[in-house]
Amino acid sequence: MRKTLFTASLLAAALAAPLAQAHQAGDIIVRAGAITVDPREDSGAISTAVTGSLAGSSATLDSDTQLGLNFAYMVTDNIGIELLAATPFSHDVGVKGLGAPLDGKFGSIKHLPPTLSVVYYPLASQSAFQPYVGAGINYTWFFDDKLSSHAESNSFSGLELKDSWGLAAQIGMDYMLTDTLMLNAQVRYIDIDTEATSNHSSLGKVKVDVDVDPFVYMVGLGYKF
Ligand code: NI
Repeated sequence: MRKTLFTASLLAAALAAPLAQAHQAGDIIVRAGAITVDPREDSGAISTAVTGSLAGSSATLDSDTQLGLNFAYMVTDNIGIELLAATPFSHDVGVKGLGAPLDGKFGSIKHLPPTLSVVYYPLASQSAFQPYVGAGINYTWFFDDKLSSHAESNSFSGLELKDSWGLAAQIGMDYMLTDTLMLNAQVRYIDIDTEATSNHSSLGKVKVDVDVDPFVYMVGLGYKF
């Protein structure tokens, strides 16, 4: 509720603001806000050294919200370079289709998905409303992969996810509240593909390919230097 009131008062301030000078070559823009990584995971079947691929089985991931940061530099009035950073995301990993008692929470992972993009602002710099599109490259670093106690008690050991390189695309908008302060909203799609591996005492090495491919949403405030 408090968040809603805060957003409403920001919007009221935005609508009342006079036309502000928006982005220009040489500007440095720093944005901060709430960022959600929502995996649209497409999992292959889980395979084990003993059984091979297990039809109908898959891995799942939940979503997570953290503090997101953007650092952008305007190369021209319309084109900028932007780095996406965030505090580490944490996702629960589940397995299904293996049957009881193996199905359920398998573990948790953390990742950082730094993304470097070129962004294009089509509108003239006098416009207070600045929509943009961007495309870039992502590196996702998985770390702190941990098995759940459920998986450990079912004779699994170890969990490891491969890091991923992929392309990213985004749309967003800045709305200048003053000459330097802006509201920002953005959505991006990041191509993140990984392979998760674990070990089972009788099934041997257990593997699954997962296309994580999340939508990433961020809403926040920006400041122009
Ligand atoms: Ni993918």
